[in-house]
Amino acid sequence: MTHQVLARKWRPRTFQEMVGQEHILRMLTHALDSQRLHHAYLFTGTRGVGKTTLGRILAKCLNCETGITSTPCNTCSICKAIDAGNCLDLIEVDAASRTKVEDTRELLDNVQYAPTQGRYKIYLIDEVHMLSNHSFNALLKTLEEPPAHVKFLLATTDPKRLPITILSRCLQFNLRHVPIEKITQHLAHICTTENIVFEIAALQSLAQAADGSMRDALSLLDQAIAFCAGNVKSTETRMMLGCMDQDVIFHLLDALAKSNGSQLLTEITELAQHGPDFNQVLEDVLSTLHQISIAQIVPDARAYSEQIQQFAKTFSAEDIQLYYQIGLIGRRDLPFAPSAHQGFEMMMLRMLAFHPVVAPQTQNTVSAAPSQAAPVASAPLTWTEILSKLPLSGMALALASHCALTRLSDHKIELSLEAKHESLLNKKLVERIEQALIQHLNKSIQLEIKITKTELNTPAQQQGEKQAKRHADATTLIQNNPQVQKIMDVFEATLDPNSITAV
Ligand SMILES: Nc1ncnc2c1ncn2[C@@H]1O[C@H](COP(=O)(O)OP(=O)(O)OP(=O)(O)O)[C@@H](O)[C@H]1O
Ligand SMILES: [Mg+2]
Ligand SMILES: [Zn+2]
Repeated sequence: MTHQVLARKWRPRTFQEMVGQEHILRMLTHALDSQRLHHAYLFTGTRGVGKTTLGRILAKCLNCETGITSTPCNTCSICKAIDAGNCLDLIEVDAASRTKVEDTRELLDNVQYAPTQGRYKIYLIDEVHMLSNHSFNALLKTLEEPPAHVKFLLATTDPKRLPITILSRCLQFNLRHVPIEKITQHLAHICTTENIVFEIAALQSLAQAADGSMRDALSLLDQAIAFCAGNVKSTETRMMLGCMDQDVIFHLLDALAKSNGSQLLTEITELAQHGPDFNQVLEDVLSTLHQISIAQIVPDARAYSEQIQQFAKTFSAEDIQLYYQIGLIGRRDLPFAPSAHQGFEMMMLRMLAFHPVVAPQTQNTVSAAPSQAAPVASAPLTWTEILSKLPLSGMALALASHCALTRLSDHKIELSLEAKHESLLNKKLVERIEQALIQHLNKSIQLEIKITKTELNTPAQQQGEKQAKRHADATTLIQNNPQVQKIMDVFEATLDPNSITAV
């Protein structure tokens, strides 16, 4: 038996076998079951997401001998002929190779003749955006008044290149990129059925590299099976894809988790001996951080490796966010470093040195400080925002409003209070704010309020500034009002700003 590539062998033959695209399948199933059919369908979407496949299944749905159905029998002669690619009533055209108007005319000349065997004569025109303008015009004429026995199924990766006149005559379905976890599951299913041994992490790498295209994923799987001699392992697969073995990335992150600078430098030096593409290594670090972040938010959503799950517990969400940010900036700046190795090392050291703590709200730049030194860094969440969500009132609210957030770690929040408001501070109120935070954040938190002599940008102060601005705006508005000016002129009056209340 000749070897068949997986993408062909595993072309879905029914709607149920399609992966993803549920939104389209639901609409098509409904339309078919209620016999509400359109004469022209347009399938759009990136390469290898199922446009042609969907067209062929729909052709079976329309022509199956059991009747128009969303579940074609796949056993009647028409279904079989369509699957085998030799059904006379399904005319498949690759527009990319038949762009000329003569081609289109020749094709459409036959439109008037009834189907030979099936219910409908179906034209499946792939890459329809490649047609010439004359061809579009010829097609348009038929699309405007198609014979009742004709259906058009158009497919394109580039719908923007279609004339609006064509678009408006078609029922358009946008196929989406297939999500990584769905591709991974599908690859796992195929490997299991084909008796191919695999590591799930290997399939994840393939799915990620496929970038939403199922066909690309299947082609990569074919390659991986050959490359790994039938046992699809993560290390080999990543090597094949030109990525680092993820273990290397894990070692780097492990050093970060332990705040162990010398381990981190040793790992990087060892890595450098293999002459890697540090841009790629950095990309891999970012992807791994992304995986950890997802695992933190939805622990069961994806079958991530144990190591990823472990890191998800070790690092705080803020750590991962900050590392990702540092990594992104590092990637941007890598070309400017004297060497990629050095740039990468500096970027990793920055991750090691900086812990995400929240800055006083006066600072809105991302900066950071060594972990053992004083606080301060980016403020992904401001105290004003948190406060607005806390169920506080009265004195507790007054106290909290005069505070600024100076430190935020997993289980501790530190607020600062200007010395001039010290009289507001008492243990009971601190406890009330602490309770509200525990309730809001849904985890145990210890709150500490410190007195400071420095000036702070607190919610109360922001509120005051806002109010002052509103008052100033209202005063200007009234002062410039012609009626008011007239009254002031006539009565030689002046405006008392204190009498103006801005709401
Ligand atoms: N949604 C999907 N579910 C399952 N397999 C799919 C899906 N999409 C694509 N495939 C696989 O990829 C192969 C190619 O799919 P198809 O020819 O339908 O892609 P396409 O969107 O028409 O791509 P192109 O834009 O390159 O023409 C199929 O034979 C099948 O193995
Ligand atoms: Mg196609
Ligand atoms: Zn059938």
